[in-house]
Amino acid sequence: MPFDSTGKISFDHIYTAPDPRPYYGTLRRVDYQIPQLAKPYFTKLIEEYQAERGNPQPTVLDVGCSYGVNAALLRCETSLDELYAQYTEPGVGDLDREALLDRDRRLVRTHSIPDGARFFGLDASGPALAYARSAGFLDNTIRADFEQDDPDPAQQALLDQVDLVVSTGCVGYVTERTIDRIARGSRPWMAHFVLRMFSYEPVAERLAELGYETASVDEVFRQRRFASGEEQAHILDALAGAGVDPTGLESEGWLYAQLYVSRPVKGAAAGLASALSTVSTE
Ligand SMILES: C[S@@+](CC[C@H](N)C(=O)[O-])C[C@H]1O[C@@H](n2cnc3c(N)ncnc32)[C@H](O)[C@@H]1O
Repeated sequence: MPFDSTGKISFDHIYTAPDPRPYYGTLRRVDYQIPQLAKPYFTKLIEEYQAERGNPQPTVLDVGCSYGVNAALLRCETSLDELYAQYTEPGVGDLDREALLDRDRRLVRTHSIPDGARFFGLDASGPALAYARSAGFLDNTIRADFEQDDPDPAQQALLDQVDLVVSTGCVGYVTERTIDRIARGSRPWMAHFVLRMFSYEPVAERLAELGYETASVDEVFRQRRFASGEEQAHILDALAGAGVDPTGLESEGWLYAQLYVSRPVKGAAAGLASALSTVSTE
């Protein structure tokens, strides 16, 4: 498998397939689990926002949403293990796209949490967005690369509706350029799970220019296993270069992420991080 410019194995091909089978099949093999670990934190974030703003149905934008995994987990009573099982069980390789979509639509119909948030997804991959929208995981989509381009008027109109921004496995692919273009619209609250090999500092600094404050949750989260010893060696080098100590974490065979929250109100980020640190992952 090829490596990307950051030293990680490149999984790029699984994010542009017409359906999510390569995504779930490949990521299951490396025990990718950050969306499942993020679920209670994003749920708590939504609850905190609902309580403070009195808005029962906030709009959540998942940045780098791919096939809508975070929206599926947040809007449905299901787990990543169940999605892995659904997409890798015997015979699933023989199903056509419509049959796969039917199963996902049934999941949304039968397992949705009533009156919850609305979910928008932003991604550069058209096929992933099209699938997630057809399945009913996402209520609306923005296909864009805000690393390069400003939002067009239709994209801006959607960004203006966003109350909360979340992501898993995406900061690193996207930088402060994307987050800045999103934040300028409606000044949404943000929660990003970021691999420890990537610094959140440039994002936090850009957001601070817009009046945001950032805090981290005092915990680390297993993202996935290294795909090989060679990948682990590359990442340990990258961490050493960034001055991050891998002892007891990446040195033991897993990539780890940290959770950062940003709010556009002075003095509010630490309170939100501390509310989120009460989340139980048992
Ligand atoms: C590692 S995947 C994470 C997907 C998903 N959030 C998850 O946790 O499985 C990164 C995603 O970011 C998307 N992406 C990469 N560069 C992007 C960009 N410049 N703008 C928007 N999305 C981008 C990719 O298409 C891919 O879906």
